[in-house]
Amino acid sequence: MSRLIVVSNRVSMPSPDGSQGGLAVALQAALRESGGLWFGWSGREVEEFNGSVSFEESDGVRSAVVDLEPQDVEEYYNGFANRTLWPLFHYRIDIAKYNRSFGSGYERVNKRFAEPLHVMIEPEDTIWINDYHLIPMASLLREHGIKNKIGFFLHTPWPPTRLLVSLPHHERLVRSMFGYDVVGFQTGEWLESFRHYCENELGGTIDGDYITVDGQRLRAVVCPIGIDFKNFIDSSETDLAHQLAERMRVSLRQLTMIVGVDRLDYSKGLQERLVSFEHLLNAYPDLHRSVVLVQVAPPSRGEVEQYRHVREELNELAGRINGMFAEVDWTPIRYVNRGYRREELTALYRAARVGLVTPLRDGMNLVAKEYIAAQDPEDPGVLVLSRFAGAAAQMQDALLVNPYAPEEVAEAIQTALKMPLAERKARFQTLREGVEKEDVHWWREKFVNMIEETETIR
Ligand code: G6P
Repeated sequence: MSRLIVVSNRVSMPSPDGSQGGLAVALQAALRESGGLWFGWSGREVEEFNGSVSFEESDGVRSAVVDLEPQDVEEYYNGFANRTLWPLFHYRIDIAKYNRSFGSGYERVNKRFAEPLHVMIEPEDTIWINDYHLIPMASLLREHGIKNKIGFFLHTPWPPTRLLVSLPHHERLVRSMFGYDVVGFQTGEWLESFRHYCENELGGTIDGDYITVDGQRLRAVVCPIGIDFKNFIDSSETDLAHQLAERMRVSLRQLTMIVGVDRLDYSKGLQERLVSFEHLLNAYPDLHRSVVLVQVAPPSRGEVEQYRHVREELNELAGRINGMFAEVDWTPIRYVNRGYRREELTALYRAARVGLVTPLRDGMNLVAKEYIAAQDPEDPGVLVLSRFAGAAAQMQDALLVNPYAPEEVAEAIQTALKMPLAERKARFQTLREGVEKEDVHWWREKFVNMIEETETIR
């Protein structure tokens, strides 16, 4: 196994209390095994960028991080990454913002990463760049003479060509991707859009997995990310999980719980979800005082105005719906603005008869997979899943819904609540097999193998 260099905007090192997401755990395992390195932004701001790299080693995983200056964070992270690309890649050109400083900040920070990174790369290393923050990284590394195999994985959707062309300098951005040997997407739909763009906007030719543009070739593949299934199940056996399970048991009593867990992001369809729940309560009065929606939504990217708006709207909506339906001894929505650790999430998911995962657009959505993993096989809950989440491609046995249609979502929740045990078990078993088999280790091995086996023409 050659040494793996993982590059992403955020670097996630093992923490002493073990509070890690599944992706971080999987990448850390790969880095540990290969003696590799995780490179990216420290998350810190310094008054003036100085290019110095801090190295850290924790639990056998090495990282190298750089600090950014406030202008970098504003133009690159809050600007081009989160005000321009994130909405565009989630089909929201109506709220995507662009100004020239975002574009130049994005290039500047990518260059600032490439500068120390290229010096650390040894000839046999395999390089793996992650996500929309760092699209031009390979072409910048190539300018520094790096000839290694480089893969790029996009965790978000890839938008249809008709939307992508609204981005100023879109061609330049996509052409820069031809510095990669392999580009990976979560679903066939995003891959198809990428291929369409390359053919129609760049005059590329396609041969199997390979796309060639002006003599430069890359391999574009589908490789859906999974969760750390075993680790997730194991964390349901911890004290913390048992404690929360007990608290939920006491607080729910006879209530049937529906759960949603999402970063507070407009792509997650949270307003639409609350409205769907309102439809459910209007359509089925017998559910009053018998169901509760627990919506966990830790705030995210608060520097960006769209995120503040969605937060305000949700406060208002949750307050209005609760005000309308609540009784002295029953509140229909428990809306919680904080994050929970993985151990606690297992308990929350397991306590819920329905998992409500209804993004308007999502690269994958791992909550859908975690919800399934956490269920009791003898009495499993039902997953209601947006057809616009990447996860829907693999999870056809969920109740698939259109999140823009509140009546339809309300009906699916009602179907889930009424579903007989035999059908719940049958759906669950198929879903669980998929989640267990195509887990995060499967994903990582598949993608790294693809990078390593792809013949490069450099
Ligand atoms: C999505 C993106 C990740 C990002 C995460 C959290 O999952 O694909 O790249 O790290 O959201 O967002 P944040 O802006 O807090 O890193």
